[in-house]
Amino acid sequence: MLSCKRILLIIGGGIAAFKALDLIRRLRERGAEVTPVLTRAGAEFVTPLSVSALAGSRVFTDLFDLTDEAEMGHIQLSRSADLVVVAPATADLMAKMAQGQADDLASTLLLATDTPVLIAPAMNVRMWQHPATQRNIATLRSDGVSFVGPGEGDMACGEHGPGRMAESLEIVAAIEGALADGPLKGRRILVTSGPTHEPIDPVRYIANRSSGAQGTAIARALVALGAEVVFVTGPADVPPPERVDLRRVETAREMLAACEAALPVDAAICAAAVADWRMATAATSKMKKTAGGLPQLEFAENPDILASLSQRSEERPALVIGFAAETDDLEANASAKRLRKGCDWIVANDVSAATGIMGGTENAVLLITATGTEAWPRMPKAEVAQRLAQRIAEHLAREVAIP
Ligand code: C5P
Repeated sequence: MLSCKRILLIIGGGIAAFKALDLIRRLRERGAEVTPVLTRAGAEFVTPLSVSALAGSRVFTDLFDLTDEAEMGHIQLSRSADLVVVAPATADLMAKMAQGQADDLASTLLLATDTPVLIAPAMNVRMWQHPATQRNIATLRSDGVSFVGPGEGDMACGEHGPGRMAESLEIVAAIEGALADGPLKGRRILVTSGPTHEPIDPVRYIANRSSGAQGTAIARALVALGAEVVFVTGPADVPPPERVDLRRVETAREMLAACEAALPVDAAICAAAVADWRMATAATSKMKKTAGGLPQLEFAENPDILASLSQRSEERPALVIGFAAETDDLEANASAKRLRKGCDWIVANDVSAATGIMGGTENAVLLITATGTEAWPRMPKAEVAQRLAQRIAEHLAREVAIP
């Protein structure tokens, strides 16, 4: 899948550097050529010898190595790859990239390169959450840098939360996605999918029957056209798509936060069935049956993610798409929803029982835009997704330049 693809792999200085060794192995198994660059700090965690043995290539470490300059200057080294991958990307390396600093081989290559860059951040949770890192992330995203991870979990430093480097197979998938050709290459697209779960107490929750099939099919179709997809999903029945930047959430509020953290994106597709309500206050311990009667549940309204993305004054995606599942007056209700939420397109479908669409494999949708309504013939749901992805590609090609 990656045969003859040339990857320049920059290994930063973090405990996750050991995972870079496995990444090299996985990439080579798939036929990629890996040219490793080890930062000075990276060499504190993995040895140049193990990196070069696995890569089957010499390791580049020093900007001022004159032999390198004679054989292959740093400019050429930075440009001879199909993709530059930074794994682990430390907070320090990301700060240098965001600032355009070039004071060692890795940062100089990153400044000199004209090839796409994919980074796999890895750092302590507080470093990841620090406003300075968050500013750097936003800068790097708007410079066109792609991200894979970080994931959440227990970290080597003993803390728990986001900051853990993506696993090597996730990075491989992101690399395959970044190298895929197609009309959406260079586009970053957010897809929400699945239901949300809103806790009542630690063991009970409010949910809905969304399987996540629609959002998953759309994400797959976008990836197939070369998009970098951030897939924010609630607890769905169907497995998530491959080759996406997967962000798992439970509640509507977590879904909104994950969507906001994914910005900027070129397009957002809200296919999730977000719960409209949550408990005003979820109980912190399991509610007990009492002789006194039934519990009183007080609801609070959840944020509307589609409306919130559509109505942002900053970083509004160039194209925001919502869904409308209606049982009556499909076109009128869906058109009104488009205006009410402020999104650009609505994909509307009739979910009344007679259509057999709910839970079925086919769909018949209306695509409602500012210029009118198109009725698409009944077709398999995967084909609806492919057709929508194609339309998104055409729209972005017309309206939004790739940075
Ligand atoms: O208002 P209604 O739920 O019918 O709107 C459906 C559309 O709005 C879908 O695109 C859904 O993903 C989105 N939505 C949302 N956040 C909510 C409710 C709906 O993003 N809280």
